Amino acid sequence: MQKSVYIKTYGCQMNVYDSARMADVLAPRGYRQADGPEDADLVILNTCHIREKAAEKVYSELGRLKRIKQARRAAGKEATIAVAGCVAQAEGAEIRRRAPMVDLVFGPQTYHRLPELLAEARRAGSAIDQEFEADEKFDFLPEESACQGPAAFLTVQEGCDKFCTFCVVPYTRGAEYSRPAAAVIAEARRMVSGGTREITLLGQNVNAYAGEAPGGFEGGNGAGFGAGGTWRLGRLIRELAEIDGLDRIRYTTSHPRDMDDELIAAHADVPALMPYLHLPVQSGSDRILAAMNRKHTAADYRRTVDRLRTVRPDIALSSDFIVGFPGETDADFAATLKLVTEVGYAQAYSFKYSARPGTPAATAENRVPEAAKAGRLAALQQLLDAQQAAFNHSCIGCTMPVLLDRPGRKPGQMVGRSPWMQAVHVTAPPERFGSIADVAIDRATANSLAGRLPAADSGPPRAYAEGVGAA
Ligand code: 5AD
Ligand code: SF4
Repeated sequence: MQKSVYIKTYGCQMNVYDSARMADVLAPRGYRQADGPEDADLVILNTCHIREKAAEKVYSELGRLKRIKQARRAAGKEATIAVAGCVAQAEGAEIRRRAPMVDLVFGPQTYHRLPELLAEARRAGSAIDQEFEADEKFDFLPEESACQGPAAFLTVQEGCDKFCTFCVVPYTRGAEYSRPAAAVIAEARRMVSGGTREITLLGQNVNAYAGEAPGGFEGGNGAGFGAGGTWRLGRLIRELAEIDGLDRIRYTTSHPRDMDDELIAAHADVPALMPYLHLPVQSGSDRILAAMNRKHTAADYRRTVDRLRTVRPDIALSSDFIVGFPGETDADFAATLKLVTEVGYAQAYSFKYSARPGTPAATAENRVPEAAKAGRLAALQQLLDAQQAAFNHSCIGCTMPVLLDRPGRKPGQMVGRSPWMQAVHVTAPPERFGSIADVAIDRATANSLAGRLPAADSGPPRAYAEGVGAA
């Protein structure tokens, strides 16, 4: 019987990937994708617990879904409401207390069992199941997956063993687990044969990747080289770059401590590895970095950036920052501004510290007043926005290869992605969708670029201008 599912995704790219895999699990069971929750027999909220605001959004959405469920019941139709992701993992009981109409609550390691969990929930009311480990999840997810498009995500690693004192991830996503390299390569090959040209390797701590090396036989996984041992991310990237038709590789999110020599070397000599790296630093103050248990100093971070820029001078950097961590003084915050000024970012995310239940920092007494947090966030964002605008403006006049991966809002317009992760708007014929076009940049805004295809849009891309790096 045809059924429909609507999956709403919150939070990080891993959740985007997980939502796509949930759809893959459900598709062979007859679930097509619904346009909205009103039309869906099954609604799944794939949730994020990283900050309080993200978690609270789920409860307001559940209020809306309750009304939809009631309206569907009145019309004689069922609606199953499920909550997945990190809020489900962290506060399943709270969800069922605050929203008893929820039929099913399940954590990130159980998506491969979704059909069974749904059947159980229908029989017995709501259920929560957290007993499964990531390795099992990846063994049981279906090989068949819907094409994500020209630019796609591929999870290679999950979980985190770092235990930064502000962060829920080690609790919601569990211990670090790396998928075997052969499974990653096989999945990448399938994606490329489906039309994907850019793959972003995902992991909560992706550069902690340590996956089982492919076995020494030419076998069913299609990746028969090497023998035994473990591959780190640099090696994995090198091997993925050999896949014909895979033009671009990225990875996110990285920890500064795990930028090893092999990975830095990959930035030097794997042309498919894009010159952009999201490398969160969180703070520029060593005192705060220590209190956060980041296991690096500001100087360590700057050294890593220098090494990356030595091997790949045009690499653009992005970061995450937290302001108002407990105990942060004006001097600590000034150190953050100093680091930002010295490093120069092409883009970045910044957040006010949000106390997360169960994390060590949540019980700290030296909290920063809300007004100070807000003032610091505004000052930091002003600096980061100026750097981003300067970086984008420095691209005017360059010609750069752009992967045209989505339609634009205006007719005839397409949006693509530059090597440095900027969105690029361009007028292009529909048949160029999914290709890498050479675009001459003639305009820049705070967060995007616009340009045109050269008059004779054929032949190989011209070498693009040098000197495009972080501002
Ligand atoms: N408060 C504010 N920001 C947080 N982040 C993680 N936990 C918290 C928190 N408790 C931010 C970090 C991380 C990003 C994904 O979210 O900057 O890198
Ligand atoms: Fe959270 Fe990242 Fe720290 Fe792990 S390394 S605890 S995911 S902030």
